[in-house]
Amino acid sequence: MAIPVTSILLIAVVITLSTAAYLAESSSDNNRIFSPCTDSTVEKSDGFTFGIVFAARTAFFFNNSVQLSPCDRRLSLSSANSQLSVFRPKVDEISLLTVNSSGFSPDSYGGYMVAFAGRKYAARSIPAFVANSTYTVTSFTLALEFKKGRLQNLYWKRDGCSSCSGKSNFVCLNNQDCALRTSSCKTKGGSVDCSLGIQVAFSGTDKHESVFNSWYEVKNLRQYSLFGLYKNLKDSLTSQYSSFF
Ligand SMILES: *[C@@H]1O[C@H](CO)[C@@H](O)[C@H](O)[C@H]1NC(C)=O
Ligand SMILES: *[C@@H]1O[C@H](CO)[C@@H](O)[C@H](O)[C@H]1NC(C)=O
Ligand SMILES: *[C@@H]1O[C@H](CO)[C@@H](O)[C@H](O)[C@H]1NC(C)=O
Repeated sequence: MAIPVTSILLIAVVITLSTAAYLAESSSDNNRIFSPCTDSTVEKSDGFTFGIVFAARTAFFFNNSVQLSPCDRRLSLSSANSQLSVFRPKVDEISLLTVNSSGFSPDSYGGYMVAFAGRKYAARSIPAFVANSTYTVTSFTLALEFKKGRLQNLYWKRDGCSSCSGKSNFVCLNNQDCALRTSSCKTKGGSVDCSLGIQVAFSGTDKHESVFNSWYEVKNLRQYSLFGLYKNLKDSLTSQYSSFF
């Protein structure tokens, strides 16, 4: 099975939020599907593979009108200026995915990203603005919604810039995204590590109709900041989220 985008994988890391509640429920991953362009149904304790493609906003639309899954060959993302990152968080855990920015500037790949999984049952998020030559957004929250274990939708969740209000190095874009100046990023000669952090959580039901709780938890814990709880998170990344602590 071919993934229709450039095969250079970004250095991507999954950091799982470990709390006693999650550790108690440690069991095995029985999902044998490892490609983001193949359909799967999951149960709690499984891993779930999905992809994020970075490209220009227009690259996600067929004939400038219909947004297709990045797995759909009609988009020909593989010949577009794009980058693919593949993640496999555990279903119903809260994970922080990071895309290391050293050697990767989202603004040079069109500046937008779409999260996706599946083929016949293809689901994709709307394109989210990541970066252009002026601004770079480094912090995102993605909710994956399932029904009977099958992915239905992926949503970028926003909190109206509350996480950066009062922080002078951040700019609030369109009342929804906290952005840094791209010129302050290390890749552009500045001092800030502009690696992306994507917090992922799950909602809906697994294949046994057991309810996923992690999105509910993120939503309710947001005011306390989950970022401080991630183990092993590099200082360079956490320092940018200091407003959360
Ligand atoms: C593309 O869009 C144009 C104008 O909206 C339409 O006339 C044309 O039939 C479309 N092509 C395809 C392949 O859908
Ligand atoms: C960068 O994006 C921001 C927010 O969407 C926009 O206001 C600005 O005009 C863009 N700048 C460039 C150079 O494209
Ligand atoms: C990104 O990679 C560079 C080089 O390997 C490393 O020094 C840096 O700490 C990494 N940043 C994060 C946020 O992991």
